[in-house]
Amino acid sequence: MPVISFANAKGGAGKTTAALLLATELAHQGYRVAILDADPQRWITQWFDASGPQHNIEVVSEVSVASVQGHIRELSRTNDYIVMDLAGARDAMVTTAVGLSDHVMIPIQGCAMDAKGGAQILDLIKMMEEAGRMVIPHSVVLTRVTSMVTTRALLTIKGLLAARGVNVMNTPIVERSAYREIFDCGGTLYSMDAAKISNLDKARENAQAFAGEVMRLLPVKVIRTSQPRRLFRLVRNAA
Ligand SMILES: Nc1ncnc2c1ncn2[C@@H]1O[C@H](COP(=O)(O)OP(=O)(O)O)[C@@H](O)[C@H]1O
Ligand SMILES: [Mg+2]
Repeated sequence: MPVISFANAKGGAGKTTAALLLATELAHQGYRVAILDADPQRWITQWFDASGPQHNIEVVSEVSVASVQGHIRELSRTNDYIVMDLAGARDAMVTTAVGLSDHVMIPIQGCAMDAKGGAQILDLIKMMEEAGRMVIPHSVVLTRVTSMVTTRALLTIKGLLAARGVNVMNTPIVERSAYREIFDCGGTLYSMDAAKISNLDKARENAQAFAGEVMRLLPVKVIRTSQPRRLFRLVRNAA
């Protein structure tokens, strides 16, 4: 049951958007997903309150340094993935969450070039890895990428980060109005009206590609039953 957190010390990097896109896409594909809303601004909680019950998704708010490990233990019994949204900070909550994650996603705006907030998380991870003699798998996700950003520019950023030994997700999160609408209207890319939202099909494709990459990185063993939406986890070493 992978725990995936989204961290960048700065606000506005696209953490909450990427976290929600991943969670709703995994849920759409039949996985049971818990979102831990560890940002005191509670954007995901507000989205959930505005959306009403969502198939395969539960949201836990009021997450603290003291409670996060217990939440993860509890939620892992009934979920396939846990997605954690964090505040734009480098504080005790972010440090704790990073230490408990199976993979840390670091969203960085592809066009802004202001990668300082992301670099702070990369430094934090390095420090924790050295101090704790452990490995914290992590990847940079380029976000809000527009058609103005050329493939060559993206490859340059990837190259720079690769030189530092940082993995960059192949799928960037593209700038799409649909991704803003989710927070304004509630629901998911699949409950929206394609007639009202421009390029909704492209937004869905992008979210699918991103979630597909995450699933390949962090696979969950499941047995599909005759009901396509219900999934059961294989119990490892079961008799
Ligand atoms: N891919 C995107 N396309 C369109 N708008 C986006 C995208 N990513 C983020 N935004 C917008 O940018 C702002 C900041 O994004 P958000 O996900 O809240 O960042 P963070 O959680 O890092 O503070 C929000 O208004 C959000 O709607
Ligand atoms: Mg946020």
